[in-house]
Amino acid sequence: MKNIAVAGTGYVGLSTGTCFADMGNKVTCIDINEEKIDMLRQGKVPIFEPGLSEMIVRNVKAGRLHFTTSYVEALADAEYIFICVGTPSGVDGEADLQYVRMAAQSVAQNMTKPIIVVNKSTVPVGTGDWVADIIKRSQPQPMAFDVVSCPEFTREGSALTDFMNPDRVVLGSKNPEAAEKVAQLHLALRTRIIITDLRTAEMIKYASNAFLATKISFINEIAAICEKLGADVQEVAVGMGYDKRIGPAFLNAGLGYGGSCFPKDVKALEHMALVHGSHPSLLRAVIDINRDARRWALLTLRELLGGRLTDRRIGVLGLAFKPNTDDLRESPALDICRMLQNEGALVTGYDPVAMAGAARMNSDLHLAEDPYDLAEGADALVVCTEWNEFKQLDLARIKNSMLQPVVVDGRNLYEPDKMHELGFQYRAVGRGAKYTNGH
Ligand code: UDX
Repeated sequence: MKNIAVAGTGYVGLSTGTCFADMGNKVTCIDINEEKIDMLRQGKVPIFEPGLSEMIVRNVKAGRLHFTTSYVEALADAEYIFICVGTPSGVDGEADLQYVRMAAQSVAQNMTKPIIVVNKSTVPVGTGDWVADIIKRSQPQPMAFDVVSCPEFTREGSALTDFMNPDRVVLGSKNPEAAEKVAQLHLALRTRIIITDLRTAEMIKYASNAFLATKISFINEIAAICEKLGADVQEVAVGMGYDKRIGPAFLNAGLGYGGSCFPKDVKALEHMALVHGSHPSLLRAVIDINRDARRWALLTLRELLGGRLTDRRIGVLGLAFKPNTDDLRESPALDICRMLQNEGALVTGYDPVAMAGAARMNSDLHLAEDPYDLAEGADALVVCTEWNEFKQLDLARIKNSMLQPVVVDGRNLYEPDKMHELGFQYRAVGRGAKYTNGH
């Protein structure tokens, strides 16, 4: 059993802390937000992540998981502190490091014995050295510490499973002994552990996310070409995916990537490259194509609804940036709602878990009780998030309650043949001419 502190109780901090507690360690999670800590102490989890709530309750009961706003308390016996605070995008796409700085200063001012500072927040290459500098400068008296970079690769919606079954753990440090000590925390996961230097570990995180985002933008570009040439991108992706060098993952064409990581990380990498005199033209194209993927929904709706969207009633099916999360950060659905509203459309949304948040972010957005309520009197539906529960809807009922049977499927959730058989005017992403003319 190790004693671990975790700074930041967002998706990354909570899942990291809870998983380490579940593996038998004593974990104290710190956040500067008192309200959040109060909620967590009462067993209420401020985010939607499948299985997290149950795991938190179980570990709190077992006395392995604690929540506090006090660094003094969290650091009293801690051998490690994981920094998992947010790194939002700054004005030029650069990562905003103010929370990392605050966490580093708090560690420096409150540590009472040597500690390993593990950085899990996604930070620009070189931040590990910067954190070490801040700690050194902020310590009241010199005390030994090491900085280790341990990037997280977990996906929202499957964070716990991903944490417990990683493809690899990457650790970077100037001091290999410190990296070894962090490796020990991960031994029970029985996975490959890669130990490298700080900057390389930080770059592995950016390069991994940028590569996955590139795969998505690549298939979206192919989808746009498929649409013009009459090919079906879904089948193209299957055909490509069997090639082991390519692999089937992250080849789903659609409205593009959203969420708290890909958009921010690709922009941050582009920014890092630019300010160091490199020419990140591929990353720029990835960002551009992702923007176009959202516009596709608007252009397609315009085309199907005769050019004007003013006063059209449009139902948006799915608001979260992807299924199984209530996270709305950089959600394509929210962008699409805004684009439609800017053209005068009356937009109603439905999402199994993200509606309250969406209403807070877009006060003109109407909310429906369920997908059938959403379809009632609508001129068109746009599928923005591929929630499982949308797959088996009674589509005949949906069609009968709509004013016009127009469905724009931004996540290729439905079968074009079936939709046309049911009498929908149906358009999907990259599913060529034979599917898209409504006959
Ligand atoms: C991602 C990374 O997967 C994870 O390793 C990293 O630590 C954090 O960022 P996450 O943002 O939770 O995780 O979501 P992910 O499941 O990777 O999806 C990201 C976005 O890409 C979503 O908007 C999703 O809809 C989109 N996507 C994904 C596609 O459009 N097509 C695909 O084939 C896959």
